[in-house]
This record gives sequence, structure tokens and C-alpha cells, in this order.
Amino acid sequence: MPIERVVTGIPGLDDILHGGIPKRNVVLLSGGPGTGKSIFGQQYLYNGLKLGEPGVLVVLEEHPVQVRVSMSQFGWNVRPYEEKGMFAIVDAFTAGIGEAAKRERYVVRAPDDFQSLVDVLREAIRDIGAVRAVIDSVTTLYITKPAMARGMVLQLKKILSGMGCTSILVSQVSVTERGFGGPGVEHAADGIIRLDLDEVDGELRRSIIVWKMRGTSHSMRRHPFEITDKGMMVKAEEVIKITGR
Ligand SMILES: Nc1ncnc2c1ncn2[C@@H]1O[C@H](COP(=O)(O)OP(=O)(O)OP(=O)(O)O)[C@@H](O)[C@H]1O
Ligand SMILES: [Mg+2]
Repeated sequence: MPIERVVTGIPGLDDILHGGIPKRNVVLLSGGPGTGKSIFGQQYLYNGLKLGEPGVLVVLEEHPVQVRVSMSQFGWNVRPYEEKGMFAIVDAFTAGIGEAAKRERYVVRAPDDFQSLVDVLREAIRDIGAVRAVIDSVTTLYITKPAMARGMVLQLKKILSGMGCTSILVSQVSVTERGFGGPGVEHAADGIIRLDLDEVDGELRRSIIVWKMRGTSHSMRRHPFEITDKGMMVKAEEVIKITGR
């Protein structure tokens, strides 16, 4: 029997994933600053909404209001989906401080307390019946407590996968780092997708590589991708070689 997959809907990406992300996988999306991780996560969720698949976005790095505005720049207006109970932003950024935060429905009052985040995340997934989830970023959860990283990721995996979600965990790495976010985390994840930005002949070039994806074969090549005002687009037919890595 063929495995069930969740299509990302990101042009070209499902081709290099040979059909999409296997259902219930927890995928580490790793990359340096400005590589497109947040855009990837938002596009993945919005494409789900268009297919009738509810999704949850946990934001730890940006104000929820700012996230809605930046999504709308790509034509991804999530407000109607929030009103219909198909989309939820879990605010793990403001701690409920400020006027705008008072209007948020899912607020983690103590963003430093992992258990409180888990509780709000569970509630949001249950309320809307989410099948897609994005956490932007997990690095923020454990940057000051690296020894906790693996435990946190495993717990998230148990919850997300257990509740039926196919998930993206955004992992921030420094520009020069070859890894994906630390050994504990990398092995715990079902999949690893890496986004890169490299200078080639005086020009920054974007590329994507699927490092692992449990449950499926996938392209073993590095593919160029672009970000435009429609979001990201992977050139599945093209291969890019990055020298000096
Ligand atoms: N409309 C657009 N057209 C082309 N490129 C864009 C557009 N909007 C944003 N970008 C590019 O996307 C980048 C930001 O992407 P994104 O916010 O997803 O990065 P990130 O990997 O989440 O970074 P960080 O780790 O710093 O949060 C910008 O630096 C810019 O290069
Ligand atoms: Mg980001």
C-alpha cells in the first residue's frame, strides 16, 4: 500500500520529495539567517488551508501581527481561515504583553516554560483539528539550554505526530555551520530539509537539499530555488553545485 503523504504545494518541492512529506513526519527545516525558513513554513500552512487542511503556526520569533502582515505580502491572507477555525497562530512571542497581544486567542503566558507552550499548542491543534503544524523556531526553545534540546524535540514529536500532524520544526543554524541543529535533534527528526544561501560569483544563490526523509525516497541533489512575491519555488529540474563547502 502506498504511504500517505502531505503535499507541500510549494512548486517543485513535492517533486524532489517524490510526492510530498510522509504523513505524521516531523521535519527539521534548517538553514542560516534569511534563507527562507519562515516563508517555507507559512507557504506550507497556507497551501494546506487551500486544500481544506487546518494548520497551526507557533511563533517564537516574531509578533503574530507582523506574521499576518508578512504572509499577506505573498497573498496569503489567513484572517478568514482564523475566523473559520481552520488556522491558528500560537503566540509564544509576546507573553501576552501589549494591546495587540490581548486580541490573540492562543497565547503562551510564559514562553520560557516549555510545558505551558506544549499545553497551548495541544489546545490549538485540538480546537481546529490541525493536520499541519509549524514551529518557528525550535532553536529559540532551547538556545539557552542545549542539554534540553533532544528531550524537547522528542516531546514535540510525540504530541504532533500523535495528534495526526505533519510538522515542520524550523531550526536556525549559523551561516558557516554544516550541521542542522545538533546531533540529538537531527536524529530525532523524521526528516531534514536544509536551505542555503551562498555567494557564487558575487551573487547570492539560494539552494535546497533534502538530507533525509523517513518513509520515502527523495532527490539526493541540491536544487536551486527562488523567492518571489508568490513565495518560494524550487527548480526541481536543475541542480546547483556549491563550491567551498
Ligand atoms: N517578496 C519577496 N521577493 C523576493 N524575496 C523575498 C521577498 N520577501 C522576502 N524575501 C527574501 O526572503 C528573506 C527572508 O526569508 P525568511 O524570513 O523566510 O528567512 P528565515 O530563514 O526565516 O530567516 P531567519 O532565520 O532570520 O528568521 C529575505 O531576506 C529576502 O531575501
Ligand atoms: Mg524566520
